[in-house]
Amino acid sequence: MVSYKDLGLVNTREMFAKAVAGGYAIPAFNFNNMEQLQAIIQASAETKSPVILQVSKGARNYANKTLLRYMAQGAVEYAKELGWENPQIVLHLDHGDSFETCKSCVDLGFSSVMIDASSLPYEENIALTKKVVDYAHQFDVTVEAELGVLAGVEDEVSAAESHYTKPEEVIDFATRTGCDSLAISIGTSHGAYKFTREQCTVDPKTGRLVPPPLAFDVLHEIEKKLPGFPIVLHGSSSVPQEYVDEINALGGKLPDAVGIPEEQLREASKSAVCKINIDSDSRLAMTAAIRRVFHDKPGEFDPRKYLGPARDEMKKLYMHKIINVLGSDGKAE
Ligand code: G3H
Ligand code: 13P
Ligand code: ZN
Repeated sequence: MVSYKDLGLVNTREMFAKAVAGGYAIPAFNFNNMEQLQAIIQASAETKSPVILQVSKGARNYANKTLLRYMAQGAVEYAKELGWENPQIVLHLDHGDSFETCKSCVDLGFSSVMIDASSLPYEENIALTKKVVDYAHQFDVTVEAELGVLAGVEDEVSAAESHYTKPEEVIDFATRTGCDSLAISIGTSHGAYKFTREQCTVDPKTGRLVPPPLAFDVLHEIEKKLPGFPIVLHGSSSVPQEYVDEINALGGKLPDAVGIPEEQLREASKSAVCKINIDSDSRLAMTAAIRRVFHDKPGEFDPRKYLGPARDEMKKLYMHKIINVLGSDGKAE
């Protein structure tokens, strides 16, 4: 049993309370490898932004769960080395799918876990979430739960069929589970293909797909039911079209990739939405940068020469999100 407190990590409780009161959101960036982690820490340290390092089940399988934990511990030391005296870093399990996975993360030193039982019937979601909360809270680890179903990693639903969170359920759910934050479904979706062509309109000037707007009315109703309660948005990549275009121009194939417009995320950040999950945008930044090197320098075979530029591109992206979209810069001086 390792306590996250001994690793220099923090849980989300105070971070979220400040974010809700201050009208900004904390970035939750997924990481699977060293370059991503370095870029996240560099961007957070430079902007003095609190940050949530997210690890999915896929990341644990890819990178090894023990190694990931030591990487997060190293990230705290790296942040200090970069001159961030008081780093506010959370290590969070993304989309935990069972009590056992959540327990394993709590026991390994995670400071926050998500139990994603949103695809289960309501009462089963409550029972499993409560079981995780009861365990995690013994160690002061915070728990994110989910109500409503997003398209993408959860189920085989498309955004059109995604089941928005029902505002009339949130008080009962939050009270009976004791969860610390709630991920809701208001039209975001995972991955780089968030909407079908049919769900979008086309901007006549640019020819670009324009996605349907997020259901802010549902968000506001939820806020009214649970004033000040931390709300989380998954599936919040914007899928920058510059990256999509560049990838496609350099031999890639990402037709009709479309994300959530950043203005809408900026608006959500000012509400009770205090955690915004971004993974796909970083994948796109990395892929574009690597394709650029392979295109410009076909003789290059030193991985540092393409992973380095990829790291720089991701850092640029993370800084942009922190400063221009979420507004979390300077909130962890
Ligand atoms: O929401 C899912 C995250 O983007 C993680 O994706 O399961 O491929 O690691 P992954
Ligand atoms: P994106 O696929 O939109 O980046 O969402 C990531 C996410 O929700 C991780 O949990
Ligand atoms: Zn997610």
